[in-house]
Amino acid sequence: MDKYMSINYDTLLENTKLGYDLYLKTYVKGIPRYVLFYRGDESFGNDRREELIKQNIKKLFISTNDVQKYFNYQEKNLQSIIGDKNKSSEEKSQTVYHVAKYLAMDLANDPRSGTHLRRVTKWVDNTINYIFDDENAFSSLVKVTSHDYYTYTHCVNLSVLGLLFGKYLFLNPYELKCFGTGLLLHDIGKVEIPLTIINKPGKLTKEEFEIVKGHPVAGQNLLEDKNIEEGALRIVIEHHENFDGTGYPNRIGGMDIHLFGRIARIIDVYDAVTTRRSYAGAKRPFAALMEMKEHMITCFDLELLKEFISFLGPHDPRRKRRKEESIYDVGIDKVIS
Ligand SMILES: [Fe+2]
Ligand SMILES: [Fe+2]
Repeated sequence: MDKYMSINYDTLLENTKLGYDLYLKTYVKGIPRYVLFYRGDESFGNDRREELIKQNIKKLFISTNDVQKYFNYQEKNLQSIIGDKNKSSEEKSQTVYHVAKYLAMDLANDPRSGTHLRRVTKWVDNTINYIFDDENAFSSLVKVTSHDYYTYTHCVNLSVLGLLFGKYLFLNPYELKCFGTGLLLHDIGKVEIPLTIINKPGKLTKEEFEIVKGHPVAGQNLLEDKNIEEGALRIVIEHHENFDGTGYPNRIGGMDIHLFGRIARIIDVYDAVTTRRSYAGAKRPFAALMEMKEHMITCFDLELLKEFISFLGPHDPRRKRRKEESIYDVGIDKVIS
């Protein structure tokens, strides 16, 4: 049986060819029916949009078979979506986040692909423009970051949080570009680790942990000769180095760790503790920061940790994350596996 997912018509740009069909949901004797509204090979014109507005229809549906086409369209048009003054920050943030999520999945399937790496750079550029242009980007982007821990959502969370924090620290656009790219790629070496270990519920054995510890070097090897900026590569290799020199793989410490590596260490732990993993529930931001302070304080550059705490502020935007049924919330992780 065909399955459908809802999308908001705000995500569609006028006068573009969408490449996927749109459906309307109706009920016949209480049974939902999906009726074709638009064919993907036509141009989505203003007349079609007006029809929707006139009938007060906010939600459209696409076939779950077209999810990939939908996100390809969003990625291709990301710059226009971000620059569209008529779209809300929430809608833009959803698009920015989910385009990256899809991209991170593609990257995990084919980490050596030059095309995917170029897509990463383009996404980082667009996201930087977005956070500089829209003052609501911070709250709406943090709201949309995932509560559930998967390697790909974790990488996207880190890149989004890192770009916002980097802006707060007054990193310049070039630095932000390296930083955001490095964060999105930081755990790419995990593709070399067996999934049975990555997804293992409960504590890892000593041997398993030794295998996991190989991911920064594996990531560095994967990205060798790929034209990745030095600052970004330093994140891949240094994000598990501790400020007191007890981390891995090279046990370097203090200022020998690149600024980006020291920041990445903080956000990496913060995101892991505030998301649900296979072996632990998500902690609230305050509890997460307390845990980091009480049990790991020597792992971090204290000045940066203080900055991170004031950057987060007293709010917890993730709490207000919308629970409505949409393509973003319903089973997309199950659809794309
Ligand atoms: Fe890592
Ligand atoms: Fe990580």
